Order: sequence, then C-alpha cells, then structure tokens
Amino acid sequence: MIPLAEPNLSGNEARYLQECVATNFVSSVGPFVDRFETLVAQAAGTPGAVATASGTTALHVALAVLGIERDDLVIMPSFTFIATANAASYVGASPYFVDIDSESWTLDPDALNDAIRNDFDGRAGELRHRQSRRRLRAILVVHTLGHSADMDRLDAIAKNYNLPLVVDAACALGATYRGRIASGLGTVAALSFNGNKTVTCGGGGALVSGDTALLATARHLATTARTSPNYDHDRVGFNYRMTNLEAAVGVAQMERLADFVGAKRRIAARYDEAFRDNAWLKPFPHASWGESACWYAGTVLAEDAPVDLDAIVAHLHTRRIGARRFWKPVHLQRPYADCLRASLAVSEGIWGRILTLPCSTNLSAADQQAVIDSVLAIVGVQSASHPLLHPSGNKVRNSA
Ligand SMILES: Cc1ncc(COP(=O)(O)O)c(C=O)c1O
Repeated sequence: MIPLAEPNLSGNEARYLQECVATNFVSSVGPFVDRFETLVAQAAGTPGAVATASGTTALHVALAVLGIERDDLVIMPSFTFIATANAASYVGASPYFVDIDSESWTLDPDALNDAIRNDFDGRAGELRHRQSRRRLRAILVVHTLGHSADMDRLDAIAKNYNLPLVVDAACALGATYRGRIASGLGTVAALSFNGNKTVTCGGGGALVSGDTALLATARHLATTARTSPNYDHDRVGFNYRMTNLEAAVGVAQMERLADFVGAKRRIAARYDEAFRDNAWLKPFPHASWGESACWYAGTVLAEDAPVDLDAIVAHLHTRRIGARRFWKPVHLQRPYADCLRASLAVSEGIWGRILTLPCSTNLSAADQQAVIDSVLAIVGVQSASHPLLHPSGNKVRNSA
C-alpha cells in the first residue's frame, strides 16, 4: 500500500524515546516537553507555546481561555475537520458557519463581513444574533490544508468588531502569510501533531500566541488549574498536557521541520505539474497571499468532470494507493445540522470533488509516479465507455 500520509520516524525518535525510558521521564513533566515547546514557539514565531495532548484539546483550551461559554456563538468555516466545531461545543458554545472562498478554501472575509452585518446587531464586543440574541464571541479561522487564510483582512474585521481571532492552524506549521509565519498570527492558534500531520508526536497539539499572559493561563488550565503541589486547584481545569514520550518524538520531528515541509511542497508541485494538462483535474489552492505548507496534496475534479469520486477512490485502493475524499462540511454532519449559518455554497460545491493522494514526506518519486499514472489512467480516459465514468450524466456525485 502507498499510504496517504504516514509518519517519517527515521531521525532521532527512537534515541529520544530511549532517553525517556532511561531517565524515567515519561509523563507530562520532562525535559522533552520543554524542548518541544521551545522548538514549536520558534517555528510559530511566538514568545512561547503550550504543548497539549492533541490539536482538539488545544482548540478547547484556546476557547476556554478567551472566556467563551454556554450559548455563545463562534463564527467558523463549515469546511473544516469536525474538531474545530467540537471545541466550541466543549465550552457550551455553538458554531455559526460562514463560507470559504474558492481561491484558498479558507474563511471568506467578504462573506464574514456580510454575515456579521446581516445577522448580528449591537456594538463592537457586544454583538448579538438578531433572532436568537446569542452573543458572538470569536472568529475561528482554519488554515485549510496548510494554506493560510487571508489573515490581514480577517484580523481587520475581528478588530473592527472587537472579537478575538482564533486560528485552527492544525495543518499549517511551515505555512507563510505575506512573508510572515502563518501559524503565529491571530490572537491564539492551535497546532496538531496527530499521526497524519507533517510533524507528529503520535498524538499531540500546542497553543501558540504572541500574548504571554494568555499562554500562561492556557498552561494553567491545561494542567488541571493546579496552584500548588498540595492538590490545590482554582478552576475547573483540564488534564490536557503532552507527555514527555510524545514530546521526545516531537523534538526529533521538529528537528526536521524544514525538510518535511520542503518534501510536502515538492510532492504537491509534482501532482500539479503532472495533472496540469488534464481539463478535469485542478490543483489545490495557491492564493497569492501565502505559501502553503502543503499538508495534504492531491487534486480537485472539475465541476463538469464525468467521473465518480468514490469510484476513483475505490479503484485506486485496488491499486493499493491510499487515496481518500476530504472533509465533509460540518453543517452536513448530524451534530451540527441545526447550527446557524450564512450561505455555504462554496463549501457545498467543493468538498465532493476533492481527491487527496499519497503525500508522506518519505514518498518516493517512483511511488508518486505510480499514483500519477493510476489517476491519469482513470481520469485521463475521455471515452464514454470507460467503466469509471459517471454513468448517469456529467456531474460529479457528492454521495459520501
Ligand atoms: C483542521 C483541523 N483542526 C483540528 C484538528 C484536530 O487535531 P487533533 O487530531 O490533533 O486533535 C485537525 C486534525 O486532525 C484538523 O485537521
């Protein structure tokens, strides 16, 4: 099998794990946690970082630190991994979904402005949804696929309405925005080090921010809000810290961040180049304002491509190629079907056409060529009799 995205553990991972065992530092106190946080802060361009058990827990803590609570609303894209919305639910808030733009697949600043103007009233900092009277408390933006959102425009809107700009940078370590490090922008950002991420700890996450007081509170909350070794706690906190074992893997991975991001970008560029002349295969987003970290790579079927995405994925699996669909928008998921929302036409139009393809940092050129050949063998065939052509017309099916 050529996997979709597998970890690359050929650096110092085993050695550092051995060190944890030899020194008996395996839990959330340990030198690798400190080293990992230093490396993450450097990579994010922030004065500090708080390592957490996952990206989801980092998002949860970010919203909790900002005081977002029961019945509040958080504007976010629907086109994201469900964890973004779950974090809002964990603090008792709900998402209000706004669409992405078709250039970057990230939160559309124009749609955001329209949604706030049309659906909310009140003065900045005290905006309420016109019908439900629920308070709007934050804008949560996602750097989709490792591509930065248009942060200057989103930041200006957030400031205009006196709202924090929370960033789900789960996939974005290595991305830039107008020459700046994308994951360090915004009020606070959450990173993921899940097994499928460019840099992994097995599981893990981190909060980064330019606000050191916010980071200190986040650290406190994520460490059960403990105030002394004598079982004193001053809030309902969370046991959300990363362990030294995970951080040991993370340090070894962070040592190779530049190489990993370089490999991801080369793989993405190679797919773009290979599919460039095929009218049915479009590249993943490259907006003018940033360089993507290219967490995942692949292709988008053109709207009129007469092929069935599920059939392509199934066919690639028979060739032992780990292809996959991408995020199903959150408003189409059962727990979030009733959430408030603006128009989500772009999200609804794009998600069923996205094909993610193998993009592990150690993917060999020969394996990538095999993937390219297999995709082109299916989608490049323009004969109506091809078995994988969509039988009932020329529209891509959105059936997942
Ligand atoms: C956009 C996005 N947000 C949040 C998460 C959650 O991160 P984790 O799996 O580390 O909890 C992920 C990761 O899978 C993600 O892709």
